[in-house]
Amino acid sequence: MRVTVIGTGYVGTVTGACLSYFGHRVTCVDTDAGKIEKLRRGEMPIYEPCLAELLQLAGARGGIDFTTELGPPAAESDVIFIAVGTPPLPTGEANLCYLEGAARSIGAAMDNRKFRVVVNKSTVPVGSGNLVETLVREGIRDARPGDGKSICFGVASNPEFLREGSAIADSLYPDRIVLGAEEERTLQVLRELYLPLVQQAFDAPVFLPRPAAVTAVPVVTTSLTSAEMIKYAANSFLAVKIGFANEVANICERVGAEAPEVMAGIGLDARIGSRFLNPGLGWGGSCFGKDLQSLLHTAREYGYHSRLLEAALEVNRAQRQLVIQKLQEKLFILKGRTIALLGLAFKPETDDLRDAPSLQIAERLLQMGARVKAYDPIAMPACRENYAAMRIQYCDSAEDAAEGADALVLVTEWKQFARLDLRSLAKSMTRAILVDGRNLFDPEAARQAGFDYSGIGRPQRTAHAPAVPATL
Ligand SMILES: NC(=O)c1ccc[n+]([C@@H]2O[C@H](COP(=O)([O-])OP(=O)(O)OC[C@H]3O[C@@H](n4cnc5c(N)ncnc54)[C@H](O)[C@@H]3O)[C@@H](O)[C@H]2O)c1
Repeated sequence: MRVTVIGTGYVGTVTGACLSYFGHRVTCVDTDAGKIEKLRRGEMPIYEPCLAELLQLAGARGGIDFTTELGPPAAESDVIFIAVGTPPLPTGEANLCYLEGAARSIGAAMDNRKFRVVVNKSTVPVGSGNLVETLVREGIRDARPGDGKSICFGVASNPEFLREGSAIADSLYPDRIVLGAEEERTLQVLRELYLPLVQQAFDAPVFLPRPAAVTAVPVVTTSLTSAEMIKYAANSFLAVKIGFANEVANICERVGAEAPEVMAGIGLDARIGSRFLNPGLGWGGSCFGKDLQSLLHTAREYGYHSRLLEAALEVNRAQRQLVIQKLQEKLFILKGRTIALLGLAFKPETDDLRDAPSLQIAERLLQMGARVKAYDPIAMPACRENYAAMRIQYCDSAEDAAEGADALVLVTEWKQFARLDLRSLAKSMTRAILVDGRNLFDPEAARQAGFDYSGIGRPQRTAHAPAVPATL
C-alpha cells in the first residue's frame, strides 16, 4: 500500500520504518527541514536502538523517503498517519495545534481519485477523531470550494504503545494493535495494512529475532472514542502501578522491609504481574505526565474528579524530591557541595529528556547552591542544547563525574553503570555517599566498596536476605 506518515519524531520515524519493512511504500513528512535533511543523509534525528539498521533494510523493501512537502505523497496515499506531537498546555490540556495543522493540510491534498484513510497515531483526547474529520473536511473545502462532496475518506484511531529504547521490537512484536473507527470500510483498509504484522508474515531482522512466543498479534477493534480512551487508560494504569510501587517502597523503608523483595513477592501473582513494579525516583518522559494531565482535564470537562489519577501525579512529584531529602540527611548542607548525577535521560536507551527526573533534581540542587556534575552515555548533547541555561558540568565518564564529588546519585539505570568499579569510584570522591535512585546496585556490595549507600525502599539489609527469591 502507499502510506504517508506525518511527523518524524520517535513515533513517526519508527512507524514509517516498520511499515516500509513490511513492504509498504512510505513517505515520512515533517515541517522540520533539519530533521528531514538528516534522515535523507541516513543520519538519525533521535537516538533509538536498531532504528538506523531497520531504515536501511526498509529502503530496500517497500521503500521509504523523507520530505517537507505533504501534498504529493498524501495525494497518492491509501493511508495517511498523523504522528505529530501533542504536548501539554499549562492547563494540562493536550495542545492540538500540530494535529490541527496536519489535518487541514491533509484535506488540502485530497482529491477524488481514491478512498483514503486518515489515521491518528498521536495520543489525543477523546473526541479528536471527530475533530480530525471536521478539519480534513475544512481543508478540502478551502482548497477545492464546491468540489468537496465527491472526496471520500475515513478517519481511524490507531494508538501507539511503543516504548522509547525498545521501540523497534515493540513495533515488530507488539502485544496488540488497537484500531478504532466508525466504518467497516476504514477498518478493512487498516486490517490489510497490518496483515504482515498481525500474521507475523515478515522475516525477522537478524538484529531483532522474533521472540518464540510471538506467532500472531491480537487486533482489538473498537469505536473511535474507545481507541482514544484505551491509550489514556493504558498509560494511566502504568503510571499508577509505578506510583503504587513507590508508595509501598516508602513505607517499606520506614518499617524495615526490602521493597524489591516485596515487589518480587507480589509480582508473581498473575493478577498483578512483575513489570513496572520497580521502586525508584518516579517516572518521566514525554507521555505519562502529559497523558495523565490530559485525561484529568477531560474528566473535569465532564464534571468528574479523578482522585486516583491526581494522586498518581502527586506521588510522582514527591518521589523526585526523595533524592534531595536523602542528600540532606547525609550531608545536612547542600550549598557549596558537589553532587554527581549518573544519567540524565528519563530512562535508559534513549536521548529523550522530556520531563526527565534528572532535570528537576539538577534544577533543585542548583537552586539550593550545590554544584552539579553529570554524565550520561547518550543524552548529554540533547541536554546541553535544550537546557543550555542549566549550569551542569558535563563529564566524559562516570568516573570523571564522581571524582571529588560529595555524593553520587544514580538517576538513570543505564546498563553500563551496573558494571562500574564501585571501590575506585568511592575512593575518588570527597565523601563516598551513593544515592541509588533506581536500586541498580547491590546494597551490600556498595557498602563493602566503601559507600554510604541508600536506595529506594531499602533499609539497612541483613546479609542473609537476597533481593530476589531463588525461584526467580
Ligand atoms: N514518544 C513516545 O514514546 C510515544 C509513545 C506512544 C505515543 N506517543 C504519542 O505520539 C505522538 C508523537 O510523539 P513523538 O514522541 O514521536 O513526538 P516528537 O515530538 O518526537 O515528534 C513530533 C514531530 O512532528 C513534527 N510535526 C509537528 N507538526 C507537524 C506538521 N503539521 N507536519 C509535519 N510534521 C509536524 C515535529 O516537527 C516533530 O518532528 C504524541 O502524541 C505522543 O504522545 C509517543
